[in-house]
Amino acid sequence: MPKPKKHVFVCSQNRPPGHPRGSCVQKGGSELLQAFWQELQKRNLFDSIAVSYTGCIGPCDMGPNVLVYPEGLLYVGVSAADIPEIFDSHLLGDKPVERLVAPAGIWD
Ligand code: FES
Repeated sequence: MPKPKKHVFVCSQNRPPGHPRGSCVQKGGSELLQAFWQELQKRNLFDSIAVSYTGCIGPCDMGPNVLVYPEGLLYVGVSAADIPEIFDSHLLGDKPVERLVAPAGIWD
């Protein structure tokens, strides 16, 4: 398997109802992961892009969250409708989708 040029991690963390942190799955993270995989399959990019599920990335209240490497760029509030743009602009064009990038102070 060739090393992927981009690796997309989709938060698939779930938590019980009423948990104070909530979770990306409660906000559609599982459906988002499936939609990423469908787009990957549709474009037949298995040799250059990997899509994986991951546990909690951090800012649960802003989810569903998606992390893209090698940049380590965090997208927040991602929906399935955003996926074609993420592929075209960032994963294939190396230009991040700025409107979805997490605020600069998010890790403070
Ligand atoms: S549950 Fe997705 S970032 Fe915490």
